[in-house]
Amino acid sequence: MTMTTTPDLVRSALLGTDLADPQLFADTDYHRTFRYLREHDPVHWNPEGVEPAFWSVTRYDDCLAVLKNTKDFSSAVTNTLGQQRWHGDEGAGRMLTHTDAPRHTELRRIVNKSFTPRAVASLEPYLRSVIGDALDRALAAGECDLVEVVALLPVASIAALLGVPQEDWEPLLTLTTAAFGSADQDVQTSPSARASAAQAHAQLLLYCQDLMDQRAEDPRDDIVTSLAEARRAGVLTEEDAMLFFDLLLLGGNETTRHGAVGALLGLMEFPDQWRLLRADRSLLTPAVGEVLRWASPSKHVLRRTVHDVELGGQRIEAGADVVVWHFSANRDRRVFTDPDRFDVTRSPNPHLGLGAGSHYCLGASLATMELRVFLDELCDRVGAAEMLRPPAHLASTVISGFKNLRLRLTPA
Ligand code: HEM
Repeated sequence: MTMTTTPDLVRSALLGTDLADPQLFADTDYHRTFRYLREHDPVHWNPEGVEPAFWSVTRYDDCLAVLKNTKDFSSAVTNTLGQQRWHGDEGAGRMLTHTDAPRHTELRRIVNKSFTPRAVASLEPYLRSVIGDALDRALAAGECDLVEVVALLPVASIAALLGVPQEDWEPLLTLTTAAFGSADQDVQTSPSARASAAQAHAQLLLYCQDLMDQRAEDPRDDIVTSLAEARRAGVLTEEDAMLFFDLLLLGGNETTRHGAVGALLGLMEFPDQWRLLRADRSLLTPAVGEVLRWASPSKHVLRRTVHDVELGGQRIEAGADVVVWHFSANRDRRVFTDPDRFDVTRSPNPHLGLGAGSHYCLGASLATMELRVFLDELCDRVGAAEMLRPPAHLASTVISGFKNLRLRLTPA
């Protein structure tokens, strides 16, 4: 009798699996698929399916090698999987994420100073009150959807840095949620959701244009003023400046939101880690690193080869798309001991949750501060969380997260 081993079973399940299909991430234990790929086919050819063909990179060292090598691997055409790969990406060669040096360096210089740890530190007291109030409301209600509870945190943070006046934060949150509200494919493909998203997006761009005009007249110490100045100096066109505004609103929105949700899930799944963190807040910084590794809110980025290259024993031709799966690199046992365990004391923790190389997350200081504040306020206020029903994963190749997470929270 022939024995069927687990790798055989996974291999046959993999045949025909399209890694670009968002539904894969909603419906299956995708970590199992990627564990198999890391061990048996680390630089994997994904033939054309819902999207054009691409290479899939799943081991830590190979992912890091791609992210650090901007000469061979370009960001300029597009930087994620998605339907824009069929018809072209409007940000190509223009948006910070979609450029290579020297244009990339020039664009990053416009906003760098607004994202230093010092610049974002001034927001901390305000963010504490935003998240503290949101948790208090959830505790008072007894039951909540955590995905909703944490929604205001990223929008309020970036709105403050951009220089959006406080009275506009709530409407901005409503518009941002309507425009980019869900990374979930089921929402994105609904015609009515698409129409209202386009309308909300147009309103956001008009808002940005107005604000830039105001700042051109009356400069302040904020990002919209930096964009208005770059526009006046001819470094950005009007449209480039609006794309930048868009990117900043979008870049940290779903990522941070689902990072916070992932943080609580990690603590719920590993209650010993929650006890440890509650008792010793000096662990907050390593805990944030562990959230970014274990939950990996950004699932992947994409690069296009400029020359023929060799990677993980495969020859990749110039002009090929190469997908770097952060979450898979972050679970590579070659680098992380017991990689599926959520361990707030993990050290060292060289995770790729915020990317690496020249496109390393611009909002890293802001994102880590937001998650630190969230964990700290959570440990102060919440003693336990009970899942009311199993969470549904987002159908998304881009964001690791959940459509909703219904919980009953108990005070600390
Ligand atoms: C937990 C939260 C976050 C995660 C997991 C995350 C993840 C990432 C990753 C993986 C990249 C690299 C993209 C690439 O290599 O092409 C990136 C870049 C970027 N992130 Fe974040 N991010 C987060 C929060 C934020 C926040 C709060 C902002 C604020 C606006 C932000 C703005 C950006 C921008 C503008 C880039 C592009 C940088 C460049 O191309 O030079 N991110 N982020």
